Amino acid sequence: MSKVKVGIIGGTGLDDPQLLLSKTEIDVDTPYGKPSSLLTVGELNGVPVVLISRHGKNHSIAPSQINYRANIWALKEIGCTHILATNACGSLKENYKIGDLIILDQFIDRTFKRENTFYSGLPNDLPGVQHIPMGEPFCEYTRNVLIEATKTCGFDMHERGNIVIIEGPRFSTRAESKMFQLWGGDLVGMTTVPEVCLAKEVGISYSSIAMVTDYDAWRDGDHVTVEQVAKVMHENAEKAKNVLLTAITLIGKQNWDEVIEKNNLCSRMAVM
Ligand code: ADE
Repeated sequence: MSKVKVGIIGGTGLDDPQLLLSKTEIDVDTPYGKPSSLLTVGELNGVPVVLISRHGKNHSIAPSQINYRANIWALKEIGCTHILATNACGSLKENYKIGDLIILDQFIDRTFKRENTFYSGLPNDLPGVQHIPMGEPFCEYTRNVLIEATKTCGFDMHERGNIVIIEGPRFSTRAESKMFQLWGGDLVGMTTVPEVCLAKEVGISYSSIAMVTDYDAWRDGDHVTVEQVAKVMHENAEKAKNVLLTAITLIGKQNWDEVIEKNNLCSRMAVM
């Protein structure tokens, strides 16, 4: 059975290294520069785990400035087969309520100034041009683990969610928010893209647990504030942490040989 290693990319309020029982911090470099934070390396119920804080240790890195390529490269280099990401997000629908957890399954990309591939065709990048399939951006098998883990923990959850990723750092206007609803978006966030795409490019099973912190700007007379996002994340962080702990244990119990093989094949076959 292949060894698994789980990378956790901790989003706003969910980047607590206390998740890991035994831990050491390591400083790594990549061909793309430094990742957002030191890598916290440890083990949970016998499963090796590596944690990165997406926005840096003191939430000092804005969404457009996150070195997504360095983060994913660092996790690949250290041997991660899986990534569990956490994301704060706004809700575009009444039934995605504050504090709900969502196991994302689709995204709509509205970002426009991020390095979004390891295969740019430039000399220092990976060789060739890769067109990675994105019909199912998230790993279905890892999504199922997160769904099972969330059910086991007994939390309100949506098994699917289509997230619109905006460039930020500003939040959306009311007009944009209403347009995203018309497009079929369920949620709005700032960091899933290009993270999920880069993970797929290098054959890592990536899945995300998102948490609703606000109703964005579509409700007349109401809009999201940073204060609200921080408050909800603070109040609900334990939920997401419990799901992660349960999911990591479940991942450690499964045989991932076929999935790892499939991921690598998908990555290789996508290069022209
Ligand atoms: N993260 C949390 N809430 C958000 C919102 N409304 N828009 C974009 N990103 C968010």
